[in-house]
Amino acid sequence: MSIGFFDSGVGGLTVLKQFRNLLPSEDCLYFGDTKNMPYGEKSEKELIEFADRIFKFFEQKQVKAVVMACNTTSAVTYEKLKEKYNFKIYPIIQSVTKLLASKPVKRIGILATHATINSHAYKNGIHSYNPEMEVVEIACPGWVKIVENGLENNKQSLCEIKNKLGEMLSFNPEKIVLACTHYPYLLPQLSMFADRSLFIDPSKAFAEFIKEDLQKSGMLSDSKSEGLEEFFVSASPENFKSAASIFYNISTKPVLVDLNTPDMLQPL
Ligand code: DGL
Repeated sequence: MSIGFFDSGVGGLTVLKQFRNLLPSEDCLYFGDTKNMPYGEKSEKELIEFADRIFKFFEQKQVKAVVMACNTTSAVTYEKLKEKYNFKIYPIIQSVTKLLASKPVKRIGILATHATINSHAYKNGIHSYNPEMEVVEIACPGWVKIVENGLENNKQSLCEIKNKLGEMLSFNPEKIVLACTHYPYLLPQLSMFADRSLFIDPSKAFAEFIKEDLQKSGMLSDSKSEGLEEFFVSASPENFKSAASIFYNISTKPVLVDLNTPDMLQPL
């Protein structure tokens, strides 16, 4: 049985990459909801609808677990949908806040989408383990589209990145969490304006958390050969592949599917 991963686009590949480094023999399916990207600007109702349809898709694919490789849906939809399905669900935020709360810092910065910031999922999660830690939350609208459109080095993009990062730096955080799975794609650009060691990409800790939990639950694959991987998108497969290329080598053509039809397994 495989494991499903999803995000609004190429962001969740930052998690998939770490996961495959740790557990190369697991079969993985990845769904990029490129038709509905960016998630960070959507309402709670819309985000629940999107996530629910993706869970149904994975249910039809008979996965053993689903990884919410997306902060926005983890923040807004996990609590609403977690009891609805029979497979295990791993949300990124709820899986890494304990670790973040244990960092030896007094002030931590959170850069994320509007929807994640408005939910205060990071602040509340960190405070449930460590009420003393000061959490500064700043939304970075526009950054997801920069990544999806491959515009990282464009002059206007660099300006947007510099401005939002500058806003965060004015609070003097000791660490800054890249709390949207798209943002690690921007690390080379962020590092032009601040020391790289300032940034935390939670995807490695998240992958380790999932591995440990699958192990504890006796759910790891016992195969010795390299696991399969398959990619699905709701729009623009070519664009998905090229935006992903700076981070992930997608060897097959992503399959275009329509999650609005009852027979969603049928490629378009
Ligand atoms: N990469 C996702 C996240 O971690 C979604 C970003 C978006 O589509 O706005 O929040």
